[in-house]
Amino acid sequence: MKNQLARVKRLMSRYGIGKGRHLGLDAYLAQGHDLGQLHLGCGNIHLPGWCNVDVINTGATDLVLDIRSLPGLPRGRAERIYSCHVLEHFSHDEIPGILASWHEVLKSGGEIRLSVPDLDAITRIYQANLEHFNVPGHQPWIALIYGGQKDEYDFHKTGFNFCWLKYLLEQAGFSSVERYPNEPHFVPGVIDNSIGKERFGEYFSLNVVARKRG
Ligand SMILES: C[S@@+](CC[C@H](N)C(=O)[O-])C[C@H]1O[C@@H](n2cnc3c(N)ncnc32)[C@H](O)[C@@H]1O
Repeated sequence: MKNQLARVKRLMSRYGIGKGRHLGLDAYLAQGHDLGQLHLGCGNIHLPGWCNVDVINTGATDLVLDIRSLPGLPRGRAERIYSCHVLEHFSHDEIPGILASWHEVLKSGGEIRLSVPDLDAITRIYQANLEHFNVPGHQPWIALIYGGQKDEYDFHKTGFNFCWLKYLLEQAGFSSVERYPNEPHFVPGVIDNSIGKERFGEYFSLNVVARKRG
């Protein structure tokens, strides 16, 4: 029974059922909510205890905001940022400015965790499974490489490997840039793309943690 309840809660979290408040920033702050932990580009994933932010109202969204510049959010206050399979949705030119604004909202010593499609892993897995991708009707991993393309925000515009993402984070002022393991998820019970290994049984996400210099 306990296990079933946990499973239902995980599924509700996965599909963003029931938790979202869909507020604008003023209403969110007026209600005294905490901006200490920011889940940016949350999509349908509601992280309990976090401020779940997306440009689209989903069942999981606490705050509807453009995360590229986080307009109106206090600077130097957040303790943690988490963003999963979102950064690749912005153009190569936009990324430094976006990382700079995420750096600004964090307090000194604050933590950022990013999960993005790992081009090194994806190309390796692709080459190891060429037969699968050469069956008529099988897509050549379009969603993972080019985005799900369900709406205007759901297109991939750039790509990453660890070396490149580390460089970008350091340029934006972050330090102690390291990979962190795909599993277990650092928020217990959460299922998102950072732990995904669907179809070929190998992780396809690059998970990176870094800190704003103290
Ligand atoms: C692939 S989804 C990832 C959702 C979730 N993090 C996950 O792991 O399932 C990318 C998300 O980024 C959001 N997004 C794209 N551009 C955005 C923007 N400018 N501001 C806020 N959210 C944005 C999309 O609406 C979408 O929910």
